[in-house]
Parts: sequence; C-alpha cells; structure tokens
Amino acid sequence: MIKKNIVAIIGSNNNRSQTKAITENILNELIKLDQAYSYKGIFLGELNLKYCIGCQKCFNDGFCELDKLDDMVLIREYMEKADIILLASPVYANDVSGIMKTFIDRISYQFHLLSFSGKLGFTLTVADHSGSEKVIEYLDHLSIHLGIKNLSNYSFIYINDSMYEKPTLIAKDMLRKIQGNYGYSNYYLEYLFRMYKSETLPKDAVNFENVSHQNELKFWSQNWIKNTDSFQEFAAKKRSINYDLYEK
Ligand SMILES: Cc1cc2nc3c(=O)[nH]c(=O)nc-3n(C[C@H](O)[C@H](O)[C@H](O)COP(=O)(O)O)c2cc1C
Repeated sequence: MIKKNIVAIIGSNNNRSQTKAITENILNELIKLDQAYSYKGIFLGELNLKYCIGCQKCFNDGFCELDKLDDMVLIREYMEKADIILLASPVYANDVSGIMKTFIDRISYQFHLLSFSGKLGFTLTVADHSGSEKVIEYLDHLSIHLGIKNLSNYSFIYINDSMYEKPTLIAKDMLRKIQGNYGYSNYYLEYLFRMYKSETLPKDAVNFENVSHQNELKFWSQNWIKNTDSFQEFAAKKRSINYDLYEK
C-alpha cells in the first residue's frame, strides 16, 4: 500500500523544542489512528540552513545558489514528494521563529510558481500565552501562496492546552479534514492561478532577456499551462508530473 506522506517543517532551533515534541505527538497519534499515513519531520534546527543573501537571482534563475551549500535542496525534495505539508512554528516575539523565517525567505521565489500545488496543508503554532493569531494568519497566507490547499490552522498554548489530550484532538481533526476534503483547489487558489496565468506575462513578450523575474514568466508561459483552464486542473497535472518523477 502506498501511504499518504505528511511532511512537517518544524521551525525551531531549540534542541529541546516544544514545537518538535508537539508536532511529533500529533503525527504519531495520527498514524496510530490511520495507518494509511506516514510522516517525515524536518526539524530545521538540525539542518544546515543559510540566510537568504537578498541577491534575488532565484526569481530569474528558478533556483537558489545557496542550495549548493546547505540542506535546502533536501527540504524542497521532501516537500515535493509530500501529499500533505504541515508548517509548524513556535511564536517568538509575536512572530515566526528566526529559523522559520530563514526557511520562508529561501522558499519565497516558489510562491510565484505555486510550486506545491496539488498538496493539502495544515499549520501549527506553539506559544506560551500570546501572539499565535498573527503567526497563524501569516503561515496560512504562505501556504496558499505555495499552492497548498490549507485545511486547518492549529495553535497550542501552554497555559490552556494539555500535552496529553490536545495532540490527539488535533490528529483526529486533521484526519477528519483530510477525509472530508475534495480536490486541491479553493476560491483563492483559483484566483491566484488566473492572476499568474494572465497577468504576469507581458502581452508583447517575445523573449525573456532583460526582463526581471524571467523564470516566473517562462514558467507561466509554458504551453501545458496555457492549455490548463483552472487551478484544480493545474494541481492535478502537477501531481501527475510529481508521480512520474518519484513514484516509478
Ligand atoms: C525568543 C523567544 C520569544 C518568545 N516570544 C513569545 C511570544 O511572543 N509569545 C508567547 O506566547 N511565547 C513566546 N515565547 C515562548 C515560546 O513560544 C514557547 O516557549 C514555545 O513553546 C517555544 O517553542 P520551541 O521550544 O519549539 O522553540 C518566546 C520564546 C522565545 C525563545
């Protein structure tokens, strides 16, 4: 049986990370409840991850030069192979953690490509008492811009939540949301797809030299995308491309 693969990006640098412990609790519960799933936790604190240096070459080239020097390629590959992506961050000073932001900066050129279309997603924030709302909103927004259909956002607050009960509740809710879901699209993803397809391409573009964000323009002007009418169809095609790459 091919299992549905959940990849959790865990944005903490703390070697006794609560976010890691809670994420693992949730996902262990989930696979206990339904063995059709497996998971891979990517704990950013254990990886070599360099800061974005702001060169913006990725928007033109479609890859980041720093990928040659650290573990970002590995993270991108795990995300590409995933069926479901969970973005988990602790709340630090009312925001995502620094290491989560580094990951986000390094992946940001992929926002304009809706790179992870055809995947479902969840977000999780962990805080001592406050600041989760803003982080949830941010991670939710990022998921959508990566092409992910986000099914739910969860927050874990120490003063309120039981380490024993809440991970199980979240695991059950995740399964309910996945099983009750149909397709990979929603209103906002359809809107983004139409926008990128029609508006990023200059009407008079003949070649892409000297145009900024060349890689995006090239991507959105491919024939297979021109012949795709909806995000749902785009996502289904992307899933079959990934299937060809990874499953055979
Ligand atoms: C630098 C820093 C800033 C923090 N800021 C907040 C905050 O704004 N609000 C809050 O409720 N908790 C805050 N906390 C507490 C953490 O969110 C909380 O302890 C979380 O469980 C830490 O997760 P981790 O162990 O995975 O890093 C902060 C912790 C650190 C280290």
